[in-house]
Amino acid sequence: MKALIVCKSYHHGNTRKVAETIGEVLNAEIVKPGEKPSSSIRDYDLLGLGSGIYWARFHGDIFDSVENLPEVEGKKAFIFSTSGMRKVPIINGFGGGIKDKLLEKGFEIIGEFSCRGYDTFFLFKLVGGIQKGRPNEEDLRGAKKFAERMSERAETDSKNEREP
Ligand SMILES: Cc1cc2nc3c(=O)[nH]c(=O)nc-3n(C[C@H](O)[C@H](O)[C@H](O)COP(=O)(O)O)c2cc1C
Repeated sequence: MKALIVCKSYHHGNTRKVAETIGEVLNAEIVKPGEKPSSSIRDYDLLGLGSGIYWARFHGDIFDSVENLPEVEGKKAFIFSTSGMRKVPIINGFGGGIKDKLLEKGFEIIGEFSCRGYDTFFLFKLVGGIQKGRPNEEDLRGAKKFAERMSERAETDSKNEREP
């Protein structure tokens, strides 16, 4: 199983830590948005897209990456993010926009992972930031379990496709 992860992480490298944990389990290649992966997208069995949450959304570069993806038929994808605050529908909704874009391109979304990340944005800076030390070991254990589920799911489905 060949996996590719595209990750944007610019605030404190929080999401990068999650990407590396997931990437290790999946033996995935990790690139930044705009970086050319070593193979064509069509050659990967699984695509992961992750970023910090900025203004309640994935980073614009991730949206651009999805925009540049080819149309596919049911290729598997997952998304992941880190954020200062919890997910709250609409106000701090996270994955919504990006999931819609992936579906439009023909991807099947098989999972979503999110955890908190150290946040010193704006007024939080005045108090030394929030969620210090996160993602922590427990968060990364969660990311590892998530990656194992993604791997199983992708492996099982590709096996079923091979065996009529
Ligand atoms: C410009 C900016 C906007 C942010 N907006 C949000 C937000 O809307 N909701 C939230 O929960 N966290 C927000 N955060 C906090 C980040 O999501 C959090 O620190 C995340 O872990 C950063 O990931 P990174 O280190 O991978 O860039 C914001 C941070 C920055 C710098």
